[in-house]
Parts: sequence; C-alpha cells; structure tokens
Amino acid sequence: TTQVLSDAYGRVATDLRVSLTDRCNLRCTYCMPAEGLEWLPGDEVLTDQEITRLIRVGVERLGITTVRLTGGEPLLRKNLEQLVADINSLVPRPTVALTTNGIGLAARAQRLADAGLSRINISLDTLNADTFAQLTRRRRLSDVLAGVTAARAAGLQPVKINTVLMRGLNDHEAADLLRWAMAENVQLRFIEQMPLDAQHAWQRTEMVTAAEIRAALEQHVVLTEDPEDAASRGSAPAELFRVAGTGHRVGIIAAVSKPFCGACDRVRLTADGQIRNCLFARSESDLRTPMRSGASDDELADLWVAAVASKQPGHGINDPSFLQPDRPMSAIGG
Ligand code: GTP
Ligand code: 5AD
Ligand code: SF4
Repeated sequence: TTQVLSDAYGRVATDLRVSLTDRCNLRCTYCMPAEGLEWLPGDEVLTDQEITRLIRVGVERLGITTVRLTGGEPLLRKNLEQLVADINSLVPRPTVALTTNGIGLAARAQRLADAGLSRINISLDTLNADTFAQLTRRRRLSDVLAGVTAARAAGLQPVKINTVLMRGLNDHEAADLLRWAMAENVQLRFIEQMPLDAQHAWQRTEMVTAAEIRAALEQHVVLTEDPEDAASRGSAPAELFRVAGTGHRVGIIAAVSKPFCGACDRVRLTADGQIRNCLFARSESDLRTPMRSGASDDELADLWVAAVASKQPGHGINDPSFLQPDRPMSAIGG
C-alpha cells in the first residue's frame, strides 16, 4: 500500500534530500571552524546499500519523486556514481539531483551524467582566488570553476550556482558573479545566510538580506519580476527575476526575510540514518537502528510517515524564542 508523507499543515513531502556524509573538504568560515568538526563515527554512517534501501522505500511507498544528494560534500562518497545509477533505476524513476561544492567534479561530471544525474547545484561564493581561500580556507577556486565547466559540458541542465553573500567579504561581488554566470550560461542564486553554522556565530545584522542583494544588482542591471515564474514557483526556495535585455534569470533565496516554509515539500535523511522533517527541526526520527535490527520496509515506511506528520509550520528563525538546531548544516544536509 502506498502512503503519503503529509503533515498537519497540509503539506506533502515529495522531495527527499539525502546527506551522504557530514565531512567536507572545504572549511567555509560561515559553516565550520578551521579544524573541522567531530565527524560521525564510520559505523554510524549508512552504507551504500542502506541508503539505497531507504530511498527505495521512499520512492516505492511514500511518494518521493525527487532525490537530492547533499553533504557535507557528497563527492567525498567514493561510490557516488553507482549510488546515482541505483537511485535512477528505481520505479517510478525519481529525478536525481546533486548539491556540491564542485571540488573534484571536473573528473566525475560526465560519469555522473551517464549514471542518470539530472540536475546539479554548485556552491560558489566568490570569483576571486584570494577571497575564495579566505572564505573556504582552501586555495581551490580553479577546481570549482573547472567543475562548473565540466558540468555544463556533460549536459547537466540546468546548472545552478548557490552563493552566500557576507558583509565586507564578498558582497561587493554580486554583479560580477551575475555577469560571470550569464556568460557561463548557469543560473545564479543568492542565498540569505541562515543560523545553521557549527560555531553559532550567526547574527541577523550580519546577514545580507534579499532586499540588499536586489538593490546591489540593480545598480548594474534591470531586474523584472516575473508573474509566470511566480505562478510556477511551487515549493522552490528561489524567487526568480528576469535580467532585462538578456535571456537570463537570477534567483534570490530569502529563507530568513521571506520564509517559504508554507510551500515546503522537503524531507531530509541524514548520513547517520535519521529522518529530519525540517532543516530546523528540534528532533529527528531514527531509521538506522530499526533498519539494522531487521525492520521490514512496511515498518520503516510507518516510522517515516510519523516523522513527517510532526513537522512544524515554519523554521521560526524570526521568533524571539528561536533556538538553533543542535546539528549544523554540514551534518543535516544543505
Ligand atoms: P532546486 O531548486 O530543486 O534546484 O533545489 P534547491 O534550491 O532546493 O537546492 P539546493 O540544495 O541548491 O538549496 C539551495 C539553498 O536553498 C540551500 O542552501 C538553503 O539555503 C535553501 N534551502 C533548501 N531547502 C531548504 C529548506 O527546506 N528550508 C530552508 N529554510 N532553506 C532551504
Ligand atoms: N545559510 C545559508 N546557506 C548556507 N550554506 C551553507 N551554510 C549556510 C547557511 N548558514 C549553503 C552553501 C551551499 C548550500 C548547500 O548551502 O553555501 O551553497
Ligand atoms: Fe563544506 Fe558546504 Fe560547509 Fe563549505 S558550506 S564547509 S562547502 S559543507
């Protein structure tokens, strides 16, 4: 029997975001400290088979139609290509997407596309090699740029670029990034920084807001709102604007100043097998332990349904009583 992942507010989760590892090969200052974090012990991280099984349960029994693989950095998972192929052979076939920092992508983009990857989102906050090194604590801008080129060459479409702007660091680059993205034929999306850093250093006043991003871009280009995009936006986090006189669009993900929780269709599986019904959930539901003690697909599906049923109406970042979740973004999955 097929069930759906619905919650008390009428939302239905169809988009599964799977964190494949909590590890990362960058150390973005807004994400984690220079020394990294205490990584999950290896035996708590799901195996490829366990991940594929849970995704199969989601797709076959729970109405999951899109699977987005994230991290940490998902390319750190050696068998990623095989995992993509296995997910791609499920029935009904889900859309398979990847969110990556792009390091090492150049050598793997074609094989990922061949394995059935449909879409890719690459994180890139600056085009300046020194700023990149300062921001990620690794001197690897050229690897990421090569990854973007390879993704396009492999026919992955669309390629989206995720950019977090930070005051005094890269916020002066907004227009340069947009010009670059248009020239590369990739879709740029600016993201408001959310309180999900391991250091708990996020400050509202430090966040570059959607309104500021728009104003900064409008110093250089004319942006027009697009009723058609608005009508078809659905659960997409990004609001898209047309860049006048070009065929291009630019997105702004205003997660804090204009929350889109009301249309959320997402549910998350962490690398250690916990269902999180929201980035900002206060609790998780363990599927790993029952799975490893022999639970049936039916039993796992029931646990998953219950996990989504208790989803809160919104992230609560703007409430006075807001508490940051105990796990950082790198461990939850972006
Ligand atoms: P597509 O629009 O399908 O390409 O994917 P996406 O935008 O959901 O995926 P991506 O992994 O690129 O996410 C981009 C950013 O959107 C994330 O880094 C978050 O900042 C934001 N985001 C994604 N999902 C959520 C969510 O459930 N809640 C909130 N608040 N932000 C989210
Ligand atoms: N707020 C918003 N976006 C973030 N990312 C990482 N940490 C945060 C945060 N605190 C972004 C990364 C990447 C995407 C998966 O999430 O830059 O583009
Ligand atoms: Fe790695 Fe992404 Fe965190 Fe940067 S933001 S350290 S790329 S997980």
